Amino acid sequence: MEIIRTIAELRQWRREAGRVALVPTMGNLHQGHLALVREAREAADRVVVSIFVNRLQFGQGEDFGAYPRTFDADCAKLIEAGVDVLFFPDEKELYPRVKQDFNVEPPHVQDELCGMFRPGHFRGVATVVCKLFNIVQPDVACFGKKDYQQLHIIRAMTEDLNIPVTLIPVDTGRAGDGLALSSRNGYLSEAERAEAPRLYRCLSLMRERLQDGVQDYATLEGDARATLERHGWVVDYVEVRQADSLEIAHAGEKHLVVLAAARLGRTRLIDNVEIAR
Ligand code: PAF
Repeated sequence: MEIIRTIAELRQWRREAGRVALVPTMGNLHQGHLALVREAREAADRVVVSIFVNRLQFGQGEDFGAYPRTFDADCAKLIEAGVDVLFFPDEKELYPRVKQDFNVEPPHVQDELCGMFRPGHFRGVATVVCKLFNIVQPDVACFGKKDYQQLHIIRAMTEDLNIPVTLIPVDTGRAGDGLALSSRNGYLSEAERAEAPRLYRCLSLMRERLQDGVQDYATLEGDARATLERHGWVVDYVEVRQADSLEIAHAGEKHLVVLAAARLGRTRLIDNVEIAR
């Protein structure tokens, strides 16, 4: 695997590379990322994985400084997975003037769901992903469905800004007990880790009830919130939304998604389930 740290070298490599798939990450790689890499390998001749902990998408008081940087372990996993190039720029390379004068400003959905609790987060995500698309110029790019709102915003960005990349959404990888794989699971204490799968269990129960035809979304949301709070969670949101637009869901909607974010101790977990009725 070639490790490329500069935009100029990456562009040089890209000229000869054929069909390229990009998997953007912030490192601290786990099986969920490796599933993205497997999809990428199926879809292209060459796979580029980027590792960049993007300061722009972290708010004040969030874990930018503490975010695990595990370069050696990540490299070993990527080599094993058959990745061609690791793009590993430092901050000066991606943000030479420290702050960006131009940013990609997502529409109102950036202020809802996770955006209500992480102001500016999706602007930071959209901006860095747009930069990575411009630098790598991938034919395809793989994103996990665990970050459902992120995927929605990136999809809208590529459509509205005519970015010539095909997005491949990849199903959420889960531990045996259902917990969605996430770099932040490593922050959980033993007791929190044992409690954490409840989030997915609550969402799965909501999915069952929605599939049974329940239309009273507010009651379902309230029940899930109450269950989580009873077990010590601090709930940011549990919401039933339209799966395609992420707009508020109305009774009778066919394709739904239930999204949730909640904190166990200091760790914020997110998850979602889709429902087709
Ligand atoms: O999902 C992530 O890990 C990040 O938000 C991404 C897409 C790599 C942008 O920094």
